[in-house]
Amino acid sequence: MFTILTSIIYACVFFLLILSWIAGSKASKLLYGGSTERLHRKTRKQIVWAVYLTLPAIGLVAATLAMAATMAPVFWEDRVLLHLPLALVPVLSVWVLAVPRLTKLWKATRNVSAAPLPVEIRKQAAQPLVILPYRMSTIGAATIFYFLLVTPVPFRLGPVLVPILLAAAAVAALGYAQERKYGRVGDANAPAPTLPRGRWLRAAGISCVVIGVAALIFIVGSRSSRLPAAMSMADGPMDFGGGTVLVHDPRTDLSLAMLTGPRDREPDRKITLTAEKKTIELSPGEPFEAWTFNGQLPGPELRMKQGELVEVTLINRDIEEGATIHWHGLDVPNAEDGVAGATQEAVMPGERHVYRFVAEQTGTFWYHSHQHSQEAVKKGLFGSLVVEPEAAEGIGAEEEDLTIMTHVWKGVGMAIGDRSGIQRKKVVPGTPVRLRLINTEDWVRQDYTLTGTPFRVAAIDGTDLNGPQELENVRIELTTGGRMDLTFLMPDAPVFLSVGRSGKLGVLLSRDGTGSVPDLPETTAFNPIDYGTPAAAAAIQADSDFDREFEMILDNKLAFYNGEFGSLYTINGEVFPNTPMFMVQEGDLVKTTISNRGAVDHPMHLHGHHMLVLSRNGEPSTGSPWYSDTLDVQPGEIYEVAFVADNPGLWMDHCHNLVHASVGMSMHLMYEGITTPYQIGSDTGNHPE
Ligand code: C2O
Ligand code: CU
Repeated sequence: MFTILTSIIYACVFFLLILSWIAGSKASKLLYGGSTERLHRKTRKQIVWAVYLTLPAIGLVAATLAMAATMAPVFWEDRVLLHLPLALVPVLSVWVLAVPRLTKLWKATRNVSAAPLPVEIRKQAAQPLVILPYRMSTIGAATIFYFLLVTPVPFRLGPVLVPILLAAAAVAALGYAQERKYGRVGDANAPAPTLPRGRWLRAAGISCVVIGVAALIFIVGSRSSRLPAAMSMADGPMDFGGGTVLVHDPRTDLSLAMLTGPRDREPDRKITLTAEKKTIELSPGEPFEAWTFNGQLPGPELRMKQGELVEVTLINRDIEEGATIHWHGLDVPNAEDGVAGATQEAVMPGERHVYRFVAEQTGTFWYHSHQHSQEAVKKGLFGSLVVEPEAAEGIGAEEEDLTIMTHVWKGVGMAIGDRSGIQRKKVVPGTPVRLRLINTEDWVRQDYTLTGTPFRVAAIDGTDLNGPQELENVRIELTTGGRMDLTFLMPDAPVFLSVGRSGKLGVLLSRDGTGSVPDLPETTAFNPIDYGTPAAAAAIQADSDFDREFEMILDNKLAFYNGEFGSLYTINGEVFPNTPMFMVQEGDLVKTTISNRGAVDHPMHLHGHHMLVLSRNGEPSTGSPWYSDTLDVQPGEIYEVAFVADNPGLWMDHCHNLVHASVGMSMHLMYEGITTPYQIGSDTGNHPE
């Protein structure tokens, strides 16, 4: 609905701009009509143009009011306060000022056919109040267009004032020019007006000036948007979320480098991951240079038990761009989080880095490099990570536990692991099955359909759900970076998990490992908002007393980022490093309202914490507590989420469409009294995104 309304608004503003432009230039040429007879016809047409340009204005008003009637103010505040007056005032002035004068002119020219035009008629045709309203409509539409491309969010008066004043100045200048023209026309001794001779020359001159100014803005914008060669991520603009203002105190500040996992005892499990380049040919004739962990695509699956102290050594053999390992969804101590330039230096070829953490959560996670993460994940520097519950001895023996990672590879397209097509597996009927879905794509949202058995969604983003009910003909939609676990008891007949709807990619489980792909049923999308049963005592409630309440508005704007011009994805109207830094104190209960005013979905990923969904689009979450670390916020959606600030450090919070993150859709959460010794930027070699 939101997407449809915004498209209508775009189209209406576009048509208002074009139609009023044409109507305006026709109006200003009325006086060159030649004969009264022609002027009579043109005047009538000019009135019809008023009708034409009113239609898109009505469309704009209707779509905006429809938004205002059905959605939260964050989606329409600026539209109602800016778009409506900018469209309505000029169009109304066309009707109130121009049309009555045109009607008069039309009547005055009805029965005369004299040429040249009498001065009186000429004067009527050149009245500023006939022409200016049409011109104002164009300026109004152009200003709305500007506000659509550079949205004023969060809505503040200051930044919108400049374009409005510019628009007002343009109207004043046009009015003045028209007034002078009117004065000349009124001179009875002057020769009959003709289209000014030098007008092409003048138009060319004006175009040159406009192009020159645009080029200047471009150069200055491009230069000033360049990211500094070295900067600390802790230097962002601070947002205290309405809570106490936090200040640095050098006497008590702590470097996040101290916030490591246990370093003083023997680890329970040691793992080595070597990042190395390898030419891999997943589809015959299409070799590509992959970035691998241990030469595998994806990297090896890491399995561990809850409570174990795990030590992972990352060795970078030959990836010149550097590498790190981030444990996506695991809330590890900050110094183990693996973000280049935030929690460590990027590991360059020949170097190594040792991570240590206790796996405290159980569930489905994944790991990936967080140095040039978009490129790294695309090329293969990632793998799955599963933490099994402590108690479940020999879980693998009686349970069929399958990890299904979906990813797009060069030459193959969407694949499970590194393979396309249908994978078949023998499963004895009666066996409990767990499918761990992980979408590691950095762009494509994926859906999954399970047929042949009812199933439960046992976990979302590595957190078990409470009392999940059985589902059938429900499809699972998974955002980039998200995970869900599906569980069921293997029936006698085959079960098929389809990735996408084509029936060409999936996993077929059957008694003997054979069987054919069934037709996919009609499905509805899985909806966690009322799934499962509430927990007995929830730690956070919608009406809890929050220490800080943050607002995160996702949107687009046309602007520069690091020297390049394009459509950017913004958080509160800004791109990194101008995005806010949410400041918290250990122990704070934090609420964040995330809304998406843009045209595409944004899976927002907060490191080091899990967000409890309180509500979506105003509808409270009534099922199992729904914790997420990668929350898919779709266009027009608004979520309220909450978390306890219980993991001190500097934590990235970014869109997991890594393409978006790499052009600035990134910010972070910062704890009071924490400093970072690391820096990002071209001089430092650290490029987290
Ligand atoms: Cu999976 Cu900050 O990333
Ligand atoms: Cu995004």
